[in-house]
Amino acid sequence: MPATILVGLQWGDEGKGRVADWLAAESDVVARSSGGDNAGHTVYANDIVFKLHQMPSGILHQRVTCVLGNGVVLNPVNLLREMEELIANGVEVTPERVVISTRAHIITPAHIALDKASEQARGGGAIGTTLRGIGPAYMDKTGRRGLRAGLMADPEAFADALYQHIEAANVTLAAEGGETLDPHASATAYVDAAARLKPFLKDTSLYINSRLKTGGRVLCEGAQGTMLDIDHGDYPFVTSSSPTAGGALTGLGFGPLQVDRVVGVAKAFSTRVGSGPMPTELEGELAARLRGTGENFWDEFGTTTGRPRRCGWLDTVLLRYTTQVNGCTELVLTKLDVLSGFEALKIAYAFDVDGERVEFPPTTVAELERAQPIYQTLPGWQEDLSAVRRWGDLPDATRAYIERVAELCQTPIRTVSVGPEREQLVHL
Ligand code: GDP
Ligand code: IMO
Ligand code: MG
Repeated sequence: MPATILVGLQWGDEGKGRVADWLAAESDVVARSSGGDNAGHTVYANDIVFKLHQMPSGILHQRVTCVLGNGVVLNPVNLLREMEELIANGVEVTPERVVISTRAHIITPAHIALDKASEQARGGGAIGTTLRGIGPAYMDKTGRRGLRAGLMADPEAFADALYQHIEAANVTLAAEGGETLDPHASATAYVDAAARLKPFLKDTSLYINSRLKTGGRVLCEGAQGTMLDIDHGDYPFVTSSSPTAGGALTGLGFGPLQVDRVVGVAKAFSTRVGSGPMPTELEGELAARLRGTGENFWDEFGTTTGRPRRCGWLDTVLLRYTTQVNGCTELVLTKLDVLSGFEALKIAYAFDVDGERVEFPPTTVAELERAQPIYQTLPGWQEDLSAVRRWGDLPDATRAYIERVAELCQTPIRTVSVGPEREQLVHL
């Protein structure tokens, strides 16, 4: 099995981190191909809750080498902090285990200030970004004025480029009514971090291809979700990268014929953090039950920002679409345990858009906002699933729910999860 791509099929937070942790056990390389520290991937291992933002979840497996590919945007200060936290928890983080693409782009303090200014300027129409500077960093990349990670190999040149970049950004910040930055003061921590990250830099495309040539198994750990994709998501309420299977190839620099498995991760219900349409969104008691109170680390509060997540019924109109966009060979359905105790469960299988019945989501936000989900109601189950490890031990109603989702998505579900712990997986 040369390369496996793992992608989120909803609006992020599907449980990609825990699924990547499972697949990492049979991988040699685990790579991030897009996004930055807007991601928050939770892995519960050895009684520790790890919240990974930039580091691939494979870091928790000693034999795995982790790659931050050319498609990611990198905040050097936050990455270093994350590395230090991992080291404090007994994880080995060395240049032998972590490689960073010289072609990745740097998120600067100016990008963070621009993200904030842009959100403020949008007022009620704000995207609800994570305020990590993601959009502005990708804008500089496509505008061909970005700072690539390779610059960190020469700390002096990096510092000069960073000062110039902040000075230029100050003009835009002032025009947008944002606070301008002192180039030297705001860059100091970045310049220090860059010097410390220098040993980790590499041509990661060459590295991954060399590992593939010698039989290495590569896992691409997707971030965000397909409904947040810059092209395929509900634009403009999206992130600025391509978190799809196609994006994994450009974001890492290897060819499509290396990939023989595309694993799509979906939560057994819908969640979204930030603005934008969400046809199956619930309010009131049902939403609160899906969200949880926040007492448990797996309750629906943002891993990166702590914001309560919007919750709703499972939407297989979107899933049918996102499964197809990624060419998923199999699905993983997470958080089934959270559905225990509901009298009945609803699944959206089509939309009514202006009186017309559709099986795939419309392409504009305005239509998606008008889309009325058409639901099928299935019987719920009362049993606690957290100790179940075998398909045959799942309640009949749970099995019926899983089978119906697979049928509606026209893709096999091979694994479901019934709790956040490593072993709380059921393979079908
Ligand atoms: P990611 O961004 O896709 O990696 O997902 P997050 O880590 O942001 O959010 C998923 C949350 O659900 C995390 O707190 C996980 O620990 C938790 N989680 C994952 N799978 C399950 C599951 O099967 N049951 C429960 N109860 N929690 C889960
Ligand atoms: P993981 O990898 C959930 C959302 C933000 C916002 C939009 C744009 O943990 O699944 P950005 O900061 O990227 O410009 O914000 O995208 N968003 C996520 N939502 N999980 C994520 O990552 C997300 N990354 C970005 O909430 O709506
Ligand atoms: Mg997350």
